[in-house]
Amino acid sequence: MRVTVFSTKPYDRTFLGAANAAGAHELRFLEAHLAPETAALADGADAVCVFVHDVVDATVLARLAEGGVRLVALRAAGYNNVDLAAAAAHGIAICRVPAYSPYAVAEHAMALLLALVRRTHRAWNRVREGNFALEGLLGVDLHGRTIGVVGTGRIGTVFCRIAAGFGMEILATDPFPNDEVRALGGRYVPLDELLERSEIIVLHAPLTPDSYHLLDREAFRRMRRGVTIVNTSRGALIDTEAAIAALKDGTIGRLGLDVYEEEEGLFFEDRSGSVIQDDLFARLLTFPNVLITAHQAFFTEDALTRIGETTIANLDAYARDGAPLHPVTG
Ligand code: NAI
Repeated sequence: MRVTVFSTKPYDRTFLGAANAAGAHELRFLEAHLAPETAALADGADAVCVFVHDVVDATVLARLAEGGVRLVALRAAGYNNVDLAAAAAHGIAICRVPAYSPYAVAEHAMALLLALVRRTHRAWNRVREGNFALEGLLGVDLHGRTIGVVGTGRIGTVFCRIAAGFGMEILATDPFPNDEVRALGGRYVPLDELLERSEIIVLHAPLTPDSYHLLDREAFRRMRRGVTIVNTSRGALIDTEAAIAALKDGTIGRLGLDVYEEEEGLFFEDRSGSVIQDDLFARLLTFPNVLITAHQAFFTEDALTRIGETTIANLDAYARDGAPLHPVTG
């Protein structure tokens, strides 16, 4: 198939190229994001391959259909950037990489949590400057602490395994509870109870209309004072303005983010020479107890290998059977 691959970085070319080493598909790599003004770049292609910040709304899908595109292959698990109804209306199939490495994301969530509770990010800076004092670096044990896991799908379940290994008490919430989490000693409780009882809250639920601003002013009001929150899922699960207020009044004791609700214009590029225009994000950067990574939880060799292989397998299946291996339907 002829495939226009949007938003590519050198690592995408490496891993997708390796998965397509047999040359089954003609991959055309573009740095541009997919958006209404760039959709025409895919004219003549059978498929486009996109990532999390590409726009796959009704306007873009209409333009892609006009240019002959029949498949949108997401090289990601989340598909909140896709208008599924519009895709169906245009007869465009959507597919994704549902499970490339839940370990990559769950382990990154734990890495953020460990850094926050032991202040490793601050210690690293101090030691480099010859400051070996410990004041201000006091941490807490994770063992025995109550952690609330919101969303126990693939990533949330792996996270529960890790948390169980640390000897934490696991509370969970998910409309579809699973037995593995229960077998690990996890207890499913309503969201409000999880918010009220947890000392640490990690978010592993997808972004949907239901989960938009799941943690808002009202949710922060219910939490224990000094709660630690880690979000590696999607930024808009947290109302950033409410989070900043909760950081200022001490409700949130530590905040770890790999995602941010307005990250599209920020993440995945080197902006070290420019002035950050997003005042909320700039404010987040000023807190000593906030640790931010720029959507890198998925970014391991293992995950990129699986993403490349599964994306090519989706294209193979579509070329062979007219249906991708991992379709997304409404
Ligand atoms: P999954 O589909 O296996 O699991 C999601 C779970 O969340 C399901 O069990 C579902 O029932 C549950 N859920 C849905 N709405 C909920 C709600 N309102 N409250 C509580 N639970 C809810 O998805 P997976 O693979 O575990 O991924 C989770 C999310 O992680 C993805 O949707 C994606 O947004 C994010 N992600 C982030 C990455 C990163 O690099 N930071 C990389 C990969 C995924």
